Amino acid sequence: MSRPRIVVTRRIPQPALDLLAEAGEVWLSPHDRPLTREELFDAVKGAEAIVCLLHDKIDDEVLDAAGPQLKVIANVAVGYDNVDTKAIAARESIWFTNTPGVLTEATADIAFSLILMATRRLGEGERVIRSQTPWVWNMFYMLGTGLQGKKLGIVGLGLIGQATARRAKAFGMEVIYSGRRQADAAIEQELGATYVSFDELLETAAVVSLHCPLNAETRHLMDAERFKQMRDDAYLINTTRGPVVDEAALVEALRNGEIKGAGLDVFEEEPKVNEGLLTLENVVLIPHLGSATIETRTGMGVLAATNAIAILRGEQPPTPVVSVG
Ligand code: DGY
Repeated sequence: MSRPRIVVTRRIPQPALDLLAEAGEVWLSPHDRPLTREELFDAVKGAEAIVCLLHDKIDDEVLDAAGPQLKVIANVAVGYDNVDTKAIAARESIWFTNTPGVLTEATADIAFSLILMATRRLGEGERVIRSQTPWVWNMFYMLGTGLQGKKLGIVGLGLIGQATARRAKAFGMEVIYSGRRQADAAIEQELGATYVSFDELLETAAVVSLHCPLNAETRHLMDAERFKQMRDDAYLINTTRGPVVDEAALVEALRNGEIKGAGLDVFEEEPKVNEGLLTLENVVLIPHLGSATIETRTGMGVLAATNAIAILRGEQPPTPVVSVG
């Protein structure tokens, strides 16, 4: 019996590749960059499984290029705004999976790191030292904002939002959250979290941290009007997807003192960063590091591989988004 063709669009951790190699003939992109559209169309031809990354746009054209034998697309990411899930579901023969759970703690660590970096001005401080700018300790030098007793507003209390809330609680913060659904009472109780409207969250939180997925409803959720609603001493943190924030509006809000600061791990047009942001001291900018630990990236790769292999073997995958049958 011929072994299934498994296409991996860019290098993923070796334990995941080893698992896939046991299950089929792996084609691994030789490039250390995203495939071009044409390269992607060529690569997926005849594939039964495609293991893809967040920079790969998966749509009808890719499904057509692959052919009718395609059984599964396994995204090595929890977010899947890169994938047209409606197009996949419409085929009624292709599974789609993502990697929830394995990156929760790493991403919450980064969200809380950004909260500390922004409120305690750590990026600014590091720039002073590295640029050898003269400085002398004094009582008023580079004062930041304390977190204890302040409100953290979590937008979207999913797994990563909850893990961020847990960290906030340990730092003595009060947690409020908004979202489409109120969380279970047990979760609210554990986190000491209060469900509020999005308006109330924006108007009262000292730090607003975004954890909602990117979709048509959340694109530019944070726009000029929303920044005006925030307190002028508040901070915005984004570790979800860049387009949830209107970056041009954020630049204006930071410049005009409508909010005090921001911390961003993700950008509207990655890897490009709005030039206005680069000129501002009161924003911390890091290059999409949410899940960037060896353990987490290995966990993501292995979970994606496990999903793909389960489907090739006719078994139930651990974390489906679009199911067949
Ligand atoms: C995800 O999995 O969606 C993350 O953004 C990857 O870092």
